[in-house]
Amino acid sequence: MTPARTPTASEDAYTAEPFVPQRGGLAALRKAAADCHGCPLHRDATQTVFGAGDTGARVLLVGEQPGDQEDRQGRPFVGPAGRVLDRALDEAGIDPAETYATNAVKHFKFTQNPARGKRRIHKAPTLREMTACGPWLAAELALVEPDVVVTLGATAGKALLGSSFRVTRQRGTVLEEDVHGRCEQVVATIHPSAVLRADEADRATAYAGLVDDLKVAARVLG
Ligand code: URA
Ligand code: SF4
Repeated sequence: MTPARTPTASEDAYTAEPFVPQRGGLAALRKAAADCHGCPLHRDATQTVFGAGDTGARVLLVGEQPGDQEDRQGRPFVGPAGRVLDRALDEAGIDPAETYATNAVKHFKFTQNPARGKRRIHKAPTLREMTACGPWLAAELALVEPDVVVTLGATAGKALLGSSFRVTRQRGTVLEEDVHGRCEQVVATIHPSAVLRADEADRATAYAGLVDDLKVAARVLG
């Protein structure tokens, strides 16, 4: 959990809470999230990228935030990282079609260098933005009620397990955690984009590590 601290008035002002409907399924959540102004990230992004997949899934995957492709298409993990993820899931014995995938933050955060054209460069969300977006993740967890939650990368880990989370220390084991008031079995691993970013020489090892961690999640399912 995030260590207790006293929020300032301006931090209080960043939250998705008032936008989250009290009832309804995935369609109602997605519709409401499309109009979320819970933090400033909605301003520059194309659209809200809400979670997607099987709401009866036993595995709920949490990434960081939508990437460039996801921002354009409105669905999570449709870009290069998503292809790595699907392949790794499959290899670990988890059918990607039987998962629910979402992100800690639902809007794409990026910077643009006008001198270098239109390319949008991913920027990591702040703790404040992750906290603001938390009520959407809480609603997704309550809806899907997964048997295991897989966090992909440092941001997702921090969003669920608190700011002291470290991937290298906590990956690949089943953690029992209080996540938004629910006791969840959580397996942390690296982000699939870390495989894509790895040097050629390290890529196969990074990918194998991702698969191994996902196998730990698969074992929870029995
Ligand atoms: N990376 C993420 O963390 N999430 C996506 O949806 C796509 C890429
Ligand atoms: Fe709302 Fe989350 Fe988007 Fe911020 S990032 S505007 S909290 S959906």
